[in-house]
Amino acid sequence: MASRVSCPSPPRLLHCLTLLLLLFSTFHASDAATALVEKVCRQASSYSFCVRSLYSDSRTPEADEYTLAYISVGVAYSNATSTQRYISDQLKSIEVSGSSHRDQQQRLQICSRGYQRAVSALVMAHNDLDSETFFELARLAGKASSGAGDCKAAFKGIPPPTALAKGNQDLMHLCEICGVVATLFSGM
Ligand SMILES: *[C@@H]1O[C@H](CO)[C@@H](O)[C@H](O)[C@H]1NC(C)=O
Repeated sequence: MASRVSCPSPPRLLHCLTLLLLLFSTFHASDAATALVEKVCRQASSYSFCVRSLYSDSRTPEADEYTLAYISVGVAYSNATSTQRYISDQLKSIEVSGSSHRDQQQRLQICSRGYQRAVSALVMAHNDLDSETFFELARLAGKASSGAGDCKAAFKGIPPPTALAKGNQDLMHLCEICGVVATLFSGM
């Protein structure tokens, strides 16, 4: 016999409906981006990376342009600072182990300076948003991205640590997203 739907009595029916609603909203959040996020992410080099990154912030489903600008800068900022932390940890462990990694140390110092520039550019971008200034966002995002680019270039010819390669690439992609978000304000 075909199985019956098991939602007979009114209280259980309510349970079922709640469950369905929960399921629906979960699928909705992971499958469908808002029109605004879609508009932004279509212009990014990786659509899925873009959607995933923006949705790492719980405000994204309700975000307008302005909030999305904060979110994109915030995601890039926290990515940049965690890669920055990784770089300084690596430098510290080289210091502890002596000077046999001179070459690696020099490359990491270039990265350290690059990420310093990147983080301060993103702080500036955040401050600009606080004062509702949007015209600098694209430039500052570009500056942050070039900090990651400098780090990538420092490892030219030899493979960088995997975490660093990913950090550089992620930050460049996240800055690209900030740049696209900036275009939402052009003409304001
Ligand atoms: C950087 O952002 C990407 C995309 O949101 C994420 O997958 C990655 O885990 C982040 N990395 C760090 C170190 O925060």
